[in-house]
Amino acid sequence: LKIGVPRERKQGESRVGITPDGTAELSRNGHTVLVETNAGLLSGFSDKQYVAAGASIQESLSDVWQGCDLLVKVKEPDPEEYQFFRKDLSVFSFLHPAACEDLTNALVSSGVIALDYDLLALPNGRLPLLEPMSEIAGKLAIQCGAYAMQTHSGGPGILLGGSIGVPAARVVVVGAGVAGSNAARVAIGMGADVSILDINPDRLAAFTDTPLRARTVFSSESALAREIALADLVIGAVLVPGDLAPKLITKKMLAQMKEKAVIVDICIDQGGFAETSRATSLAEPTYVEDNVIHYCVPNMPAMVPRTSTIALSNATLPWIKKLSNLGLAKAIDTYQPLREALLSVGQGLCNPIVGDALGIKCLSEKQLREKLSQLA
Ligand SMILES: NC(=O)c1ccc[n+]([C@@H]2O[C@H](COP(=O)([O-])OP(=O)(O)OC[C@H]3O[C@@H](n4cnc5c(N)ncnc54)[C@H](O)[C@@H]3O)[C@@H](O)[C@H]2O)c1
Repeated sequence: LKIGVPRERKQGESRVGITPDGTAELSRNGHTVLVETNAGLLSGFSDKQYVAAGASIQESLSDVWQGCDLLVKVKEPDPEEYQFFRKDLSVFSFLHPAACEDLTNALVSSGVIALDYDLLALPNGRLPLLEPMSEIAGKLAIQCGAYAMQTHSGGPGILLGGSIGVPAARVVVVGAGVAGSNAARVAIGMGADVSILDINPDRLAAFTDTPLRARTVFSSESALAREIALADLVIGAVLVPGDLAPKLITKKMLAQMKEKAVIVDICIDQGGFAETSRATSLAEPTYVEDNVIHYCVPNMPAMVPRTSTIALSNATLPWIKKLSNLGLAKAIDTYQPLREALLSVGQGLCNPIVGDALGIKCLSEKQLREKLSQLA
C-alpha cells in the first residue's frame, strides 16, 4: 500500500502524522510511505531520517495526496486539500466532523473513505487515539491558563499556588475525563484550590483521596454556575463522542464571573463548552468577552510537537498497520474500533451522531455493508 504523510497546513500546527520509527515499521511490512518534504521538521524529524526509515520524500502536497492510497494526517484537512478527495482514497486523521460541517460535506460528496481518530472507540468506551492528545492538552491547559492570568498577558495577576497568607487561585475543571483529570492533577500539583465537575461520579472518584484531593462536584447547571462565579481559572474538558460539546457556560453565567477570570476551553475542537467560545489560533490564542479572558486553541498539543507527534504516532501506528496489512474492508470488518471510526464511505455518512448534529441522513447498516463489500 502507498501511505501518504503531508505537511500539516493548520495555523501553528507542527505535528506530523507518522514518525520515522513508524515509517520504518510500515516499510518493513512492505508498504511505501510518501512523506512531503519537511513534514516532520517542526517535530524534530528531518527528511534524511525519513529516507533512512525507507520513506520516499515528495516535493509537493499534491504529490502526496495523489500518489497514495491511505492518507495519514494529524488535524482535519485544510480547504486547499479538499480538491484531492477521491473515492478510492482513505483518509485517517482527526476530522472533528460535527464541528467542521464544510469538511464533512466535502468528504461525503467526494466519496472518500474517511476514518476519524476521535471516533475510534474500544469496546470499553476508551478513545485510544484521542487520549494521548487529551492528556497533553489537559496538562498544557494549566500552563496556558497560568500564563493568561499574569498581568503582562492582560490577566488579573494571580499566581495559581498563592503565597503564604494569600489564598491560592480557584481552578474549576469541567469534565473529569482524560483532559480534565490531567489538568486537575497539574493544578493540584501547582498548589491551586481545585474543583472538578462531571456528570459521571466514577470519573470524580479519583479525586476524593490525597495526594490528588480536589473538591468533587456532580455537574448540573446550578452547581456549575456556583463554581464558576468563584473561579479565577475555568478549564472546559467535556466530551460527548461524535457530537458538538454541550454549551454549559451561558452568557448569563459569564456575567457572574470575576473580572479578568480566564476560561481555557479545551473542547473548542468540538465547538466549545461556553456560548461565548470561538476558535482562536496559537498565534493569537486569547480574546476578552464580557470581561472574561477566553483561550480557545483547537490544536494545543502543537505547542509541544516533539512529545505530541511521538505520542500520537505510537497510538495510531497499530491501526495504520491493520488498515494497510489487511486492506480497508477486511480491517473494518475484523476490528470494531475501525468500524466505529468510519465517518464516510461511497458518498454516504456512517456515523449517526454526526448525522444528527449536521442533519445528514446516515447509511443503514445494510447499505454500509454493501459499500464495504464493493471495496473488498
Ligand atoms: N484543544 C485541543 O487541542 C484538544 C486536544 C485534545 C483533546 N481536546 C478535546 O478535549 C475534550 C475532552 O476530551 P477527553 O479525551 O478528556 O474526553 P473524555 O471522554 O475522557 O472526558 C470527557 C468527560 O466529559 C464528561 N461530560 C460529558 N458531558 C458533560 C456535562 N454535561 N457536564 C460535565 N461533564 C460532562 C464525561 O462524563 C467525561 O468524563 C474533547 O472535546 C477533545 O476533543 C482538545
